[in-house]
Amino acid sequence: MASFLDSVPLSGITRIRDMMYSVTDPYRLDQGDVSFDAPDTVKSAMARAIVDNHSHYVQTTGIPRLRELIAAKLRNTNGIPVDDVDDVLVTNGGIHGLYIICRALLETGDEVLIPDPAWPPAAGNILAAQGVPVGYGLHESDGWQPRLDEVESKITPKTRVLYLNSPSNPSGGVLTRTCIEQLAAIAEKHDLWVISDEAYEDVVFDGEHVSIASLPGMYERTIPLYTFSKSYAMTGLRLGYVAIRDAKIRDRSKKLLFYTASNIASVVQYGGIGALEGSQDCIGTFRTELRARRDLFYAGIKELAGEIFTGQPPAGAFYAFLRINPGWTEGDRATASASWRMVEYLISKGRIGCVPGVDFGANGEGYVRFCFARDRKELTGALGSMQGLFGATSAP
Ligand SMILES: Cc1ncc(COP(=O)(O)O)c(C=O)c1O
Repeated sequence: MASFLDSVPLSGITRIRDMMYSVTDPYRLDQGDVSFDAPDTVKSAMARAIVDNHSHYVQTTGIPRLRELIAAKLRNTNGIPVDDVDDVLVTNGGIHGLYIICRALLETGDEVLIPDPAWPPAAGNILAAQGVPVGYGLHESDGWQPRLDEVESKITPKTRVLYLNSPSNPSGGVLTRTCIEQLAAIAEKHDLWVISDEAYEDVVFDGEHVSIASLPGMYERTIPLYTFSKSYAMTGLRLGYVAIRDAKIRDRSKKLLFYTASNIASVVQYGGIGALEGSQDCIGTFRTELRARRDLFYAGIKELAGEIFTGQPPAGAFYAFLRINPGWTEGDRATASASWRMVEYLISKGRIGCVPGVDFGANGEGYVRFCFARDRKELTGALGSMQGLFGATSAP
């Protein structure tokens, strides 16, 4: 019996999605979906694939041309020494890649260090593989960089993996090169695997994106994880990939890929070929627009809800992870969590979708996450709604 699955929580994001369907004219700042459309390079490649009848089974690990392009991208853009195309496995988005890696790496009871707060599927996929997620705190006062002594203090004889996510969902923190070098040293010292979730590699506003697998000797113990969702606005198309140097882990992953998907949708893989072969201009265009939206949203919050929410614009990703003023007293007092109380209030009174910080881990309590990758009209609409809610509230 798979009764262990009964205790794996379903992320609160799904509850919020359901709540949002009952709201008329909602502001969907809850989900991490960009308002941009996929570039023409993707759309025309998929249209061509349909016309050319690429509607049959393809290779389990991915179409050879796509894997070649991905391997070249990993070498040239990420600096990861992927010299064999066989290392690359194409997945049904990043979330599927994470599921496969967790299943391929973990024995029952193995511990995985994850940030707190973290993207909920990190813990969910570890639990689904019968592993144990162990949180290490990220704090706003540290610019959301981990405290290395705390990370190391959480290591036990059962720790197998260190999960990193930079740029981070939800905090927006971007790990510095120095921090990544220190984390690499910890992984080497304690002989840990590293899962490096780089879903937001192209959404860095301040600082640089460093792939830990590019550091000397680290690719051997690191499985880097990527997605087309954010870089090419392909969230619904479901395309991601991982690179695995270790033959045993790769073979296990290939089996899981086959048994869970047989192969990833052929037409979508052609879209991925179009994305990588074509112009990369959309990445810069998206980033510039996301920066403008970030600044618009934070300026609006400061002006219209500055008594209620505080926080610094994030260095990366596209979320505003804002601290709720502890003196805020509205909402349903029966709700013990301040994050949930605020989210229920914003959804029911302001039609504003958002996610409670506590859904990302205990350390996220007292925060709310807003996605600012929505279009400017939706962002200003949500800000206007907040003004209506909080404008009349005197400073707590
Ligand atoms: C940190 C992080 N990793 C991975 C993903 C995976 O995205 P997808 O499954 O759409 O590729 C997401 C999506 O929101 C994310 O926030």
